[in-house]
Amino acid sequence: MEREEVFDEDYLYFDDRLIDDETSDAEAELVWELLGLTPGSEVLDLACGHGRIANRLASRGARVTGLDATPAFLELARADAAARGVEVEYVEGDMRELPWSERFDAVLSWFTSFGYFEDDESRRVLAEAYDSLRPGGELLIENNNVAALMRGFVPAHVNERDGNFMLDRFSIDLPRGTHPHDPDHRARRADAQLLLRRAALLAG
Ligand SMILES: C[S@@+](CC[C@H](N)C(=O)[O-])C[C@H]1O[C@@H](n2cnc3c(N)ncnc32)[C@H](O)[C@@H]1O
Repeated sequence: MEREEVFDEDYLYFDDRLIDDETSDAEAELVWELLGLTPGSEVLDLACGHGRIANRLASRGARVTGLDATPAFLELARADAAARGVEVEYVEGDMRELPWSERFDAVLSWFTSFGYFEDDESRRVLAEAYDSLRPGGELLIENNNVAALMRGFVPAHVNERDGNFMLDRFSIDLPRGTHPHDPDHRARRADAQLLLRRAALLAG
């Protein structure tokens, strides 16, 4: 599936329970702790989506830049920042080609936003994040735990919200430990629940 087909209003609608305010508050707190952020820290939220983490980090006093490839999500992010009275620099762009050099104290890739590409392009994302960091800066990636994913693996799942339904189909390329290049986008969301646990474990 193309990115435009995956990240649209359905993503926000059906994932509401995974990215609601309570969850996002807790995740922003976790990000703050894991990265050891302090007011004034310069942070890049890579693939920031609709800004739920970026805006919360800004509310705590970080200087935040958010980059995403989906203009509609960036519009929501800007509106939410305005509503919260925080300033975040939102940039439309591709995580494989970043315009910054040695600028950020921390780069964040949250909610399984890393690993959408073939390996060479994923390495490119890492290299770009590296170049964007100041020496000594840190990159935090929340990503899949394949073993945990396999323990709860089902080939399909029906997601229902308020009488609306979405069929999730899951697949995984076990030898490579990744999803196939063209994964069913709903598989990513199952990962996200597992990843949150993994991140919490790391925090503890
Ligand atoms: C699962 S969402 C996560 C959003 C956000 N990190 C969060 O925690 O809510 C993944 C995001 O990656 C963005 N994205 C996908 N491909 C991208 C690319 N090549 N460059 C930048 N962003 C991309 C999508 O637009 C989407 O907002």
